[in-house]
Amino acid sequence: MLATLGRVMVLKSTSLRPGCLVRPIAPTKLPGRYFAHQKSLPRLPVPPLLQTLERYLLMLEPIVSQEELEHTNQLVKEFAQKGGVGARLQASLERRAGKTENWLSDWWLRTAYLENRLPVVIHSSPGVLLPKQDYHDRQGQLRFSAKLIAGVLDFKSMIDNETLPVESLGGRPLCMNQYYQILSSCRIPGSKSDSFANYSVTKKPAHVTIVHNFQFFELFVYNSDGSPLTVDQLYMQLEKIWHSSLQTNKEPIGILSTGHRNSWANAYNTLIKDKVNKESVKCIQRSIFTICLDAPVPKVSDDLYMSHVGAQMLHGGGSRWNSGNRWFDKTLQFVVGEDGSCGLVYEHSSSEGPPIAALLDHVFEYCKTSEMVRSPMIPLAMPRKLRFNITSDIKRDIEKAKQNLNMMVRDMDIKCFVFEHFGKDFVKSQRLSPDAYIQIALQLAYYRIYGEQRATYESASLRMFHLGRTDTIRSASVESSVFVRAMDNPQEQKQNKVTLMRQAVQAHRAYTDLAIKGQAIDRHLFGLKHQAIEDLVRIPEIFMDTSYAVAFHFNLSTSQVPAKADCLMCFGPVVPDGYGVCYNPMDNHMNFSVSAFNSCAETNAAKLAHYLERALVDMRDLIVQTNSSKL
Ligand code: COA
Repeated sequence: MLATLGRVMVLKSTSLRPGCLVRPIAPTKLPGRYFAHQKSLPRLPVPPLLQTLERYLLMLEPIVSQEELEHTNQLVKEFAQKGGVGARLQASLERRAGKTENWLSDWWLRTAYLENRLPVVIHSSPGVLLPKQDYHDRQGQLRFSAKLIAGVLDFKSMIDNETLPVESLGGRPLCMNQYYQILSSCRIPGSKSDSFANYSVTKKPAHVTIVHNFQFFELFVYNSDGSPLTVDQLYMQLEKIWHSSLQTNKEPIGILSTGHRNSWANAYNTLIKDKVNKESVKCIQRSIFTICLDAPVPKVSDDLYMSHVGAQMLHGGGSRWNSGNRWFDKTLQFVVGEDGSCGLVYEHSSSEGPPIAALLDHVFEYCKTSEMVRSPMIPLAMPRKLRFNITSDIKRDIEKAKQNLNMMVRDMDIKCFVFEHFGKDFVKSQRLSPDAYIQIALQLAYYRIYGEQRATYESASLRMFHLGRTDTIRSASVESSVFVRAMDNPQEQKQNKVTLMRQAVQAHRAYTDLAIKGQAIDRHLFGLKHQAIEDLVRIPEIFMDTSYAVAFHFNLSTSQVPAKADCLMCFGPVVPDGYGVCYNPMDNHMNFSVSAFNSCAETNAAKLAHYLERALVDMRDLIVQTNSSKL
């Protein structure tokens, strides 16, 4: 249900009626260019049933046993029978697609995000590391933060005026909806399902929140005439905040937002029983975004620096360090350290990585060019400190949240690195897709460690369609399976290996093209299953099958998040025995993050990173050697 509470557009997913239209924000209420563009986008199609089922069986080949495959074959045949349950669900899904703006988006938002009870920290919210900045003290930290705020406000003006350039993929315009949700928004915990609130729908908020030493402040960033504060003015305001939050013994109230969603929902209800607390929480939720001025953390060697900052961005380092210096439900939080380290963490339910990366690129360029401009000395009001009354119940919830978070932090195994041997340019020069090349290298790396392939998820953008989010590119394919087995086989000729490699890369790229056109299998299967739940029919056997469980147990959860800036996104694995892998391929190098859980004896982020580097290089060497032998 899309409920307007005062000025706030709140998306409450628990109260959704089957088939009811859900929009993450209310695009139809926004007139003008944005609306016209959104209206012109095609609707997400429902792929043909038999096409999906055939591709499903093909996708299972490299990851399930022959016996399982035969069993699943039989189930698929029954499901696909003329006039059978598959056809009925397909017809319902097509009807739903005809009635809604996007047949998938509200189901996806609920299932993948709002109803997911795992903590958002590590399990859902990605972190982004920015290149280290050239400052080493508090002044530099505040100066950079002031520029950052000004840069985001500059970007925001394009959103407010609806002048943000429409992006395209393969020459086709993309849905821009996600950009309209990342500012002035927040996730709100709920006992069975969370909700997502966007506060910019009517009266736009005019403040950001600043957090320093676990203390939150409301900082108004516009003058009374509507012009944004200058970098100079922002700097002065940040100085005031810094000086009035020197005490380091404050309760880390923000740490509550790191909890399991049910625990956090309970703690949240306790917290906002107090009027003062409720008002402070509202102020954080409504703010345009948050700046976390982090306390200094122990220095690490250059080798460890990237991984260390990646972890800081993901979880803040634990209760002793900066995890309490966040409000993890806030959609966008920039993190600025005193030592030049910086980046952000964002709550994922409203947006994928690319719009965040595009915002970062803009802000980063802005920070490089903007100089401190002396502002007229109009005295500005002291930013308001947000007060919290900490009762014994709240204190107890904070202590529990600290313990759980510290366990999660200890469990996080993360390796961030720069692959320096080559970048996109080399791969393109070989007439291969860089993204597909990286994915196939990852398959090779995994196979070399484990001697088998596992279900692999790569995000594919569905933004060619109105309100499109993502589908899945399956990198463990028949073609990649043939290649990874051949690569280290001494009986195979190099020429044959390179042919198999090219075929694997091309098959991956071909599946990518299908996925971005809405013809991949994952969201379609998800839709059929959800349709069965909504139609109250028995869940069909194919969704209860071992093969289905194997296919959706993503040991490798991966994503490309490209950016012009030399930055890197990182996220946690999605299964206890899995890896999270994210990369930003630049022209002449590539940035990678690999994550795993220490509690799983079989996984090791540094080991996969090492094997990935080797696979990328070995594939390059194979190409170069076979190219030169042809001369
Ligand atoms: N020969 C030469 N060049 C090639 C090539 C070939 N055979 N195939 C591709 N290229 C070029 C492309 O033209 C492109 O050039 P550009 O850098 O000048 O634009 C470049 O190589 C990159 O293409 P490719 O590596 O194939 O990937 P892509 O940019 O098309 O991205 C996906 C692929 C899957 C990452 C993208 O389609 C997508 O869906 N991105 C969204 C992912 C997402 O949402 N992630 C966030 C999750 S939080």
